[in-house]
Order: sequence, then structure tokens, then C-alpha cells
Amino acid sequence: MKIFVTGGCGFIGSAVVRYLIHKTNHEVVNIDKMTYAASQKSVACCETSERYFFEKVDIVNKKKIEGLFDQYQPDKIIHLAAESHVDRSIDEPSDFINTNIVGTYVLLDQAHKYYKNLLGGKKDTFRFHHVSTDEVFGDLDDTGFFDEKTSYDPSSPYSASKAASDHLVRAWGRTFGLPYTISNCTNNYGPYQFPEKMIPVMILNCLNEKSLPIYGNGLNVRDWLYVEDHAEAIYKILFDGKNGETYCVGGECEKNNLDIVDSICNLMDSLYPLTNAKDSYKELKTFVKDRDGHDFRYAMDIKKIKSELNWSPIHTFDEGIKKTVKWYTQHWGCVA
Ligand SMILES: NC(=O)c1ccc[n+]([C@@H]2O[C@H](COP(=O)([O-])OP(=O)(O)OC[C@H]3O[C@@H](n4cnc5c(N)ncnc54)[C@H](O)[C@@H]3O)[C@@H](O)[C@H]2O)c1
Repeated sequence: MKIFVTGGCGFIGSAVVRYLIHKTNHEVVNIDKMTYAASQKSVACCETSERYFFEKVDIVNKKKIEGLFDQYQPDKIIHLAAESHVDRSIDEPSDFINTNIVGTYVLLDQAHKYYKNLLGGKKDTFRFHHVSTDEVFGDLDDTGFFDEKTSYDPSSPYSASKAASDHLVRAWGRTFGLPYTISNCTNNYGPYQFPEKMIPVMILNCLNEKSLPIYGNGLNVRDWLYVEDHAEAIYKILFDGKNGETYCVGGECEKNNLDIVDSICNLMDSLYPLTNAKDSYKELKTFVKDRDGHDFRYAMDIKKIKSELNWSPIHTFDEGIKKTVKWYTQHWGCVA
């Protein structure tokens, strides 16, 4: 099949592209505007494949998106292109409204126009999969979990724009009959994440012996999933998920920010012991002013995807964070 992947040079999108090229026989058309968060090197290993195509296109550009549907006649779409950093959405929300809401609308509208004219098997297998976040649900206190029935209650401009895009996808399904699935996933970590998100910031700051900035008291909790496990979940949902369904995806791995930073420091201490007066990278920890509207806790109930699609996270946090720390220490200088 021919699969459109939007945002395929981003952190998760590139893991999806690598998964499709290395583990399947499908063709991939990677559609990416190449914002600051994109990295061509994250898909360099796919570029020699005759099943890989790259299009530098902004998803907001209706004419260009229409042209790509005409040119490639895709069988399925995995939509990941987005502005993704909460702090940036607080500083300047406009790109988030544009890409995440208007861009998703443009893709849905063009997908629907294209889908209407498909015939037979090609029509039967067409699917628009939207990759979204657990942040659309707001936050939790110390107990409870999000699941597919949780009401939307986004806190930041980022999560509100993702909530809007989820609603648009469901509207295109219900009103126009566009076949779709949605996944809402917890925090991802792994190689090629742009170092503005917590885990790569902490690793690179350790390497540079700079302070490790921790928001508030460091007790905010996230559920962490290794990015390659997420790529596999997306693939399963795209092919085996039921039309019109939502799947919650997560790592069943709740950690507060202090736990994460301590894990990174412990690994750095054993891999790259400090040679100066400090005993541990932990001495670089610094508490900074909390993020405005900072959600306290996210945690996901993933029973549905486990039982219906037989998907579970493969990497434990210890395995995933070790791979991630090693990857940044060995590669980031070469891909930045
Ligand atoms: N990172 C996470 O922990 C996480 C968790 C759950 C869901 N998600 C969702 O997964 C998706 C991918 O997240 P990520 O962390 O890989 O993001 P990212 O910021 O690393 O990558 C986003 C990619 O989209 C591209 N892009 C941005 N605007 C575009 C536009 N207008 N047209 C075409 N391409 C554009 C960028 O160039 C970049 O390559 C997003 O939709 C995000 O909301 C992320």
C-alpha cells in the first residue's frame, strides 16, 4: 500500500517512517514542512529505499495537498504533523492554531474529496489515522486513569488545538463518512526528539555540565512510552483498528519529573563519571518557576488496545531510557 505520513521528519513521525520502511513492504510518502523540530537525518536510513518518497509541503497549503493526493493516490494516511511543544504554545499560539487545526482541516477536506471518488477495494481499505495526545483530557489527581470515554478538558493552547483536531476528524467521519481512527498517546521518549522536551534537554545538559531545570517541585507525573513502541501501536491501529474508533496508547509507566531526572543522572554517572569536584550529575538539578497551567498527572488505561489489537509496550523504562541516553551521548552531535 501507499501510505502518507505527515510530519515524518519529526520525532514520532520519523520512527513511524523507519518502521514502515524497515519492517513492512509498504510505500511511504513523507509530507513535512521541515520546521525547527524536523530532522532529515532521522529518516536518512530510508532515503535509499525505492519505497520512500519525500515531499517538503506545508499541510495548510490546500493546492499542494490536493496535488499530492492526485499524484500519489494513497491508500492510507497517518497524520502526525503538528506543532508539539506546550511551552511554545503558551509563548505564541498562532502556529499551533494554524498547523494543528487549520492543517488538519485541509488534510481532512482533501482526503474526503479524494475518498469520495475511490472505487472498490481501494475505497474499502482507505483510512485516515490521526495521532493525538492524552493532553486533550486535561489532568488527573493522584488516582484514576484516562480512557477512550474520558471527556475532553484541555489546559494549554497546544492541547486545545489537538482537541480541536480530534473533533474535526470525528466530524469528517460522522458527517462525510470518511473512514478514520484516532489514537491518544502519553509522553514519548527516544532518539531524535528535539532537545526542547524534558528528556533530551536533561541528557544534553548533563553532557555539557549545565544546570538541569525542573519545573515547580518536580512531582508532576507523566506516563512514558518508548517511541518505537508507539510506532508499532500506530501501525496496528492503522491496519487492524476499527473504523471510527479511538485507541488510548501508553507505556503503563508513571514517573514524576524528579524520578526521570534521577534515572538520567544515574545512567550518566555510570556511563560518563564526572571528573570535576561534583560526585553526581544530580548536583546539577535546579528547581525553576512552574509552567503556567501545568497539568499535574497523566495516566492511561490501555486495556482496549491490549485486548482488541493485541498491542502492549515492549520496552521497560529502564531499557528505553538507557537506549535513549546512549543514543544522545553518541549521536546528537552528528544529527543536530
Ligand atoms: N511527543 C509526544 O510525546 C507526543 C505524545 C502524544 C502525541 N503526540 C503527537 O504526535 C505527533 C508528532 O509529535 P512529535 O513529538 O513527533 O512532534 P515533532 O514536533 O517532533 O514533529 C512534528 C513534525 O511535524 C512537522 N510539521 C509541523 N508543522 C507542519 C506543517 N504545517 N506541515 C507539514 N509538516 C509540519 C514538523 O516539521 C516536524 O517534522 C503530534 O501530532 C503530537 O501532537 C506527541
